[in-house]
Amino acid sequence: MNPIQLFDPASSTYTYVLVDETSTQSPRPALIIDPVDAQLERDLAILRQNKLYLVWALETHAHADHITSAGLLAEHTGAQTAAPVACGISTASKLLSNGDVLSFGDQHVTALHTPGHTAGSMSFVWQRKEDMHAPTQVFTGDTLLIGGCGRTDFQSGSAAALYNSITQVLFALPDSTLVWPGHDYKGQTQSTIGAEKTGNARVAGRSLDEFVTLMGQLNLPKPKRIDEAVPANQRSGLSANVINIRHDSDDNQTPLNMKDTSMTQDNVQPADGYAGDIDPQTAFDWWQAGEAVLVDIRTDAERAWVGYVPGAAEIAWKQWPGMVMNPAYDADLLAAVPKEKKVLLLCRSGLRSIPAAKRAAELGLEAYNILEGFEGDPNGNAHRNSVGGWRHRGLPWRQN
Ligand SMILES: [Fe+2]
Repeated sequence: MNPIQLFDPASSTYTYVLVDETSTQSPRPALIIDPVDAQLERDLAILRQNKLYLVWALETHAHADHITSAGLLAEHTGAQTAAPVACGISTASKLLSNGDVLSFGDQHVTALHTPGHTAGSMSFVWQRKEDMHAPTQVFTGDTLLIGGCGRTDFQSGSAAALYNSITQVLFALPDSTLVWPGHDYKGQTQSTIGAEKTGNARVAGRSLDEFVTLMGQLNLPKPKRIDEAVPANQRSGLSANVINIRHDSDDNQTPLNMKDTSMTQDNVQPADGYAGDIDPQTAFDWWQAGEAVLVDIRTDAERAWVGYVPGAAEIAWKQWPGMVMNPAYDADLLAAVPKEKKVLLLCRSGLRSIPAAKRAAELGLEAYNILEGFEGDPNGNAHRNSVGGWRHRGLPWRQN
């Protein structure tokens, strides 16, 4: 049982999907390591095709070369996000320390602190529970690459720390351990600890001092996307995807695809595939004026746990368990929304309601996505309901 190994060509990043294949549940529990934003649709399709339920979206570190999709995956799949405690990824729902264990079904991965590429970097060890003779597997991020290692010249990197992490922490794993790296630039896919001990061009046969000297002489160019990627990744990728499309009070551009030019254009932002994005207050005003139907597309479980909007139509886009598509969405939506009214789609944070709005538009409705959703984005303590959102903005809601 190896992981599903996925590749992002633009950044040469490997993403891994680990599945509990012993599970008799359907969908089966899974965990993803280092997902890439540009591959979100691919990764959602893989989860669907393999009938997987994503429990965790996990980072090895705050990447400098691409933006994570962890925040988006959490919204679309119901997964929780986890990241090393010392990487500044404050939006993650779980911050990992050395030795912490994450479970998905009956499977477990253990976090190993392997600093050096960045101070917070971690590797993750997977020992299959049902077969103790199967080789241990380790996901090394940018700490140990096949025949190489990550750079140490930015983002709190340290060549001495990296040497220790590779030779004392990772090389303490059994020689048969399968190594799954965070990148490869030559088409290699996996290695073993034994092979890296003897053949790794950066580390094998080198002393600490020799390694530090070598790393100091690399003179690599600055990663192209570092200034954009690191801050975005410290918000689980959400800043690059959602915050940038949020309102900008100085933005007087005319929305591109508005269907009704008589409406209050200031409150509508252009959108691709549906009528536009609107803020929660505008949604409330249109709904109260009788122009629109408000549809809460969160799961039944979310409404029960977090709270609901009295009077909103409740039509889930996806449902627990496993965030599977609600097969009744189309029919229920068409039954709830008269043709002459707009439909306003509310989810948790304004992400899941985007595909729901696109689908509503395909069904012939004038559909708007409500930015920020019911709960808004997580704050620096990974808590919601304090950064925007229907509830935080004082609009009516109730708790069961
Ligand atoms: Fe990296």
